This record gives sequence, C-alpha cells and structure tokens, in this order.
Amino acid sequence: MLDIRIEKTTSPKEKPAKDAKLGFGKISTDHMFVMNYTEGKGWHDARIVPYQNLSLAPSAMVFHYGQEMFEGLKAYKGVDGKTYLFRPDMNAKRANNSNQRLCIPQLPEEYFIEAVKAIVKIDEDWIPTAEGTSLYVRPFIIATDEFLGVAPSKTYLFIIILSPSGAYYANGLEPVGIWIEDEYVRAVRGGMGFAKTGGNYAASLIGQVKAHNDGYSQVLWLDGVERKYIEEVGAMNIFFKINGKVVTPMLNGSILPGITRASVLQLCREWGLDVEERKISVDELIKAYEHGILEEVFGTGTAAVISPVGKLRYEDEVMVIGNNQIGPLSQKIYDTITGIQLGKNGIHPEWRVEVK
Ligand code: PLP
Ligand code: COI
Repeated sequence: MLDIRIEKTTSPKEKPAKDAKLGFGKISTDHMFVMNYTEGKGWHDARIVPYQNLSLAPSAMVFHYGQEMFEGLKAYKGVDGKTYLFRPDMNAKRANNSNQRLCIPQLPEEYFIEAVKAIVKIDEDWIPTAEGTSLYVRPFIIATDEFLGVAPSKTYLFIIILSPSGAYYANGLEPVGIWIEDEYVRAVRGGMGFAKTGGNYAASLIGQVKAHNDGYSQVLWLDGVERKYIEEVGAMNIFFKINGKVVTPMLNGSILPGITRASVLQLCREWGLDVEERKISVDELIKAYEHGILEEVFGTGTAAVISPVGKLRYEDEVMVIGNNQIGPLSQKIYDTITGIQLGKNGIHPEWRVEVK
C-alpha cells in the first residue's frame, strides 16, 4: 500500500459549467499526485498536493534528452453515479514497458493504480457528466538529475494530473480527414514507437503541421523503413473494414499497443467478425478503395475514443470513405465501448474499476 500524504487546496478553483464546451486537456483540477524516485531508495514520498508549478533546475535531464514517459486514461461517472476507470491495469503494464525502453525505473503496477485512484477520488467532483465528456488522467515520469551528460537519471518524479475533457477532435463524432504521410516517419522498429514517450510525439509534429495546413486533422504514419505499410495515427490506432473483414496493423514494435485497440479487437472477435492483425500496405488500401471494398475506417484511442475517418489522402489521391459518414460498425463499436465505460450495457464489467 502506498502511504500518501494529502495536502488539500485552500483555494479551490471554479469548476466548468455542466454544459461548458470543455475541449481536450485545457483545464486542470485542484490537485495533483507526486512521488519521487531516488536511486538506492526507490519510490518514496507519495503525496497529493494542490495543482502547482514544478520547480526544476534548468539542467534537469528531462529538458535535454527527453527521458520521460506518459500514460493516458479516463475516469467516468457511471450510470450508477459511482466513479470508474477503464482498464487501468493495462496502463500500469504499458507504463512499465515504456519505462523499460527509456531506462526509467519500474513503477510497481499497484502503486500506479493506487495513485490514479487516490488522485481521482480527491478531485472526483471534477468529473464532467455531459455526453462525451470524462476526466482525462495523465500520469507521467520525468528525469530530474541536474546533469548534462547523456546517461539515465538517478532521480525521477512521477506525477499525475487531471483534466475534465470533451471530444479530442473539435467536431466530436464527425468523420475526420487523415493525411497519409509519405515524407517524414514517426518511429522505426527497434526505436521507441511502442513506448509512450514525448520524443515520439515531438517527431510527429512536423507531419501534423503539414496535414493541418492542408485541412486534415491528423497524420497516418507509414513504416519507417519502406514507407509502404500502415502504422498508426498521431494519437490513435487505425482500423479498416475491408470486404467485411476488420483489419488493423499488427503490433510490430513501432506502434503503440493501444488499450482501446485491444478492447475493440476483443469485441469484434466476440461478435464473430473476421479480424486480422497484419501488415497492410497503402497500395492494398488504394486498391480496396478502387474496388469499392474499403467500407469503413476508424481510429481508436483513449482521448479519441472511436473516431470515424471520412477522408484519407495519399499523394495525389483523396479517398472518401463511406460518403464521409460514420459507418454502422464504427457506430456499433463506439456505442459499445462508451456503454461499457459508463456501465450502461453490462458488457465486460471487469474492464471497469471502481474508485472508492
Ligand atoms: N497511438 C498513439 C500514438 C497514441 O498516442 C494513442 C493514445 O494513447 C493510441 C495509439 C491509442 O492508445 P490507447 O487506446 O491506449 O489510448
Ligand atoms: C491518449 O489517448 O491518452 C493519448 O495519449 C493521446 C494524446 C497524445 C492526446
């Protein structure tokens, strides 16, 4: 059990109105969780304190070589009025896979889950309840040694902040346009693509700027070697429905093993659909489109939930998917996943963890 010291704020902030347009990740709650790591001592001094700025030396290693990792999950008010997390055990496991790749010490999974539960409990009243909203939970670890040499840090901070959030994309469930990037790459096998770490997102910004400048919301990355096979989108995994089959790129070390992805795959298999995790080339997609069998495209992610894709651009070709409307499978998956998260449908109750 983590022994967490609690210092409550004496000046609580005003919470957003019930019907406020929250956007994503713009608002912080009253408190944050913090815990230190020191070599030889391990994780120590778990505490919940008022949300505040950090004080770090300019030479703190995270600023220079990017030794950091982060996670993302959500807390919901269920239809029974209780507070739930969605599969936090999977975030705790993935956090340690990222830690391993980044030479950050392992964080016991039970510490991760206890810390998330504790901070969510303290700021439970910040969980929004309007449709499509939730409390986004952002755990992260940063390297804090004051040192300019390139080496793993010996000290770290594990922090969790919270943000009441709505849809990740401005237009909610409306299909998004996606730019298939053919110049830059985000990650390569053997690199850090499977880890959730800032460097991967830093590498993705230039593609996102290009896409935005052309009116597209996100980038679909291709593999870093041949720039031929589909990998994932900037903030979500990608699924295709091709000729009745559900197809998604297999985990190959360079894409993030999404928790929503795993949940969607499991549901589709339980529904008896044909599901394939494999390599998908951009050529195959274009051919499927030309033959009229590229039936649906959607992204999956914690922030993005299920995001239908209405338009895919590759070089000079623009593919309009399903008349730029959400498809029936995407809608069914969205309804089922959000129904599970809110406890509306009794499906996979073991995926929800109550915060007591
Ligand atoms: N891929 C990337 C690059 C992401 O940032 C995310 C978001 O977390 C995902 C995929 C989806 O992962 P998950 O479903 O665990 O949120
Ligand atoms: C998430 O969905 O939790 C993410 O981390 C996406 C994020 C990069 C906005």
